[in-house]
Amino acid sequence: MSRYLAFLAVAVIAMVSFLGFQGKKSKDTPVYVFDDMDYQNKYKAQGENTFFADGRDARPPVAGTVARGNALEPSKVFSPNYRRTESLNPSFVTGKDAKGAFLVGFPAKSLATAKGELQDYAINDRVLEVGRGKFQIYCAVCHGLAADGNGIMKTRSKIEGDVAIVTIANLQAPIIRGYPNGQIFDVITNGKNTMMGYGDKLSPEERWAVVAYVRALQLSQNCPADLVPAAVKAQIK
Ligand code: HEC
Repeated sequence: MSRYLAFLAVAVIAMVSFLGFQGKKSKDTPVYVFDDMDYQNKYKAQGENTFFADGRDARPPVAGTVARGNALEPSKVFSPNYRRTESLNPSFVTGKDAKGAFLVGFPAKSLATAKGELQDYAINDRVLEVGRGKFQIYCAVCHGLAADGNGIMKTRSKIEGDVAIVTIANLQAPIIRGYPNGQIFDVITNGKNTMMGYGDKLSPEERWAVVAYVRALQLSQNCPADLVPAAVKAQIK
């Protein structure tokens, strides 16, 4: 026992004299037992590099690279009258009115401007077509092509026994049919509970188009008799 204690004391003294007390400040080069965290081979943005002829770590884009995505045009952004269109029409990007309540219908104005004026927003065939495309890409796997909550993910997760995904909502349910449009827009933007948001994948225009298409699907399953075209009525037995 006493031998063990003596060994421990020597080991502690050796360690403290070699590494110092914890928290001790020193100008000496630290002792690295494992130095690969602090010193690793990597290129840094402003670093020097002998491998490339221009001596820089950061590489310029390949000649002919085309910028894509939401790149802002500097000449526009730095012009005195520049305002982000989002700041001109916040409802269009949040789905909420000035008081923070969900928009019941669709936004009155779009994000598009002409001569500095926001243009009216209207649901038309083109918008519904965008909505159908995006719904079938992003939503139908879970919510199903008819928005009844029976997408392939539900079937599969039942087979795999995944409890989380069998909660996929039926968008034909009366409660969701009764949602204000802005609330559906909000679920698409930010997600809800186990559903992830799509704000980073769909532009505000595309999200409103999906809302419009969900409304069209809801109408298709709950269509009032007087809205059914005569030609379709004739086929109903
Ligand atoms: C990976 C599966 C999945 C995808 C893809 C998905 N959802 Fe969902 N969604 C869910 C689940 C799960 C819920 C139920 C969340 C909960 O527990 O409240 C849900 C709920 C909803 C609700 C109801 C929210 C509420 O308040 O009850 C709406 C509306 C909705 N989704 C719309 C969409 C739309 C539109 C898309 C496509 C842009 C989409 N979802 C894509 C899984 C998904």
